[in-house]
Amino acid sequence: MTVFLVGAGPGDPGLITAKGLDLVRTCEVLVYDVLVARELVDEAPDDALKIPREGMAQHELNDLLVDLGRQGFDVVRLKGGDPFVFGRGGEEALALLEADLPFEVVPGVSAMSAVPASAGIPITHRGVSAQVTLVSGHSANGDELDYAQLAGTPGTLIVFMGLAQLPKLAASLIAAGKPADTPAAVVSRGTHADGESVSGELHEIAELAADLSSPALLVVGDVVAVGAQLAALRHAVAS
Ligand SMILES: C[S@@+](CC[C@H](N)C(=O)[O-])C[C@H]1O[C@@H](n2cnc3c(N)ncnc32)[C@H](O)[C@@H]1O
Repeated sequence: MTVFLVGAGPGDPGLITAKGLDLVRTCEVLVYDVLVARELVDEAPDDALKIPREGMAQHELNDLLVDLGRQGFDVVRLKGGDPFVFGRGGEEALALLEADLPFEVVPGVSAMSAVPASAGIPITHRGVSAQVTLVSGHSANGDELDYAQLAGTPGTLIVFMGLAQLPKLAASLIAAGKPADTPAAVVSRGTHADGESVSGELHEIAELAADLSSPALLVVGDVVAVGAQLAALRHAVAS
């Protein structure tokens, strides 16, 4: 018996790891997130118990994993992206550890790099950005983000879960000193067939992204301009 905390990748079902897919195909119980591709849920054995996480508070989910572990099942807890990047995988691992249950973390392809890549944006680029800062836009609700520090940090800024807070995030960064013309992009449903992205300058990004849907990632920094350069080159090669 083991509880595997498995990263499902950012959306495209082909982006789970080979190890993760093997575990899904042989599990007895699959507990899965709403962001996980349906195709991956369907890979679990027909007789496996499949439990959507939707509607469960984190402490209820932790208790469920402990309960399933204690009953001796091979459990796959399938999570969007990577379990340890804004995935609360650490909390689930701690709950299992405290209950003295064996578990293993199987990393996944995080939206952090895969989603910008799906829009042609590298998150680092020699001579342009050698540093990446990840933040959760949820923090914007409680004014927990240190905008002065973020505005003064060089490199690429990536904001998870920031779509609803986009106008506030952009305005606060600019008010804290980030140049209003800093290149910015929002990528919605990256790596999915219906993924969309918009790019422009920081001062206009909230307006440009107003019609995009969740999940979405905000990328701020000169790498966005590299993405535009790559797109233009690709277009020139194709035509
Ligand atoms: C709770 S976090 C989970 C992150 C995940 N653990 C990872 O490593 O990618 C969910 C947020 O990740 C971002 N995200 C995940 N998948 C995405 C996708 N396919 N396109 C755009 N953003 C995505 C969004 O900001 C979303 O609100």
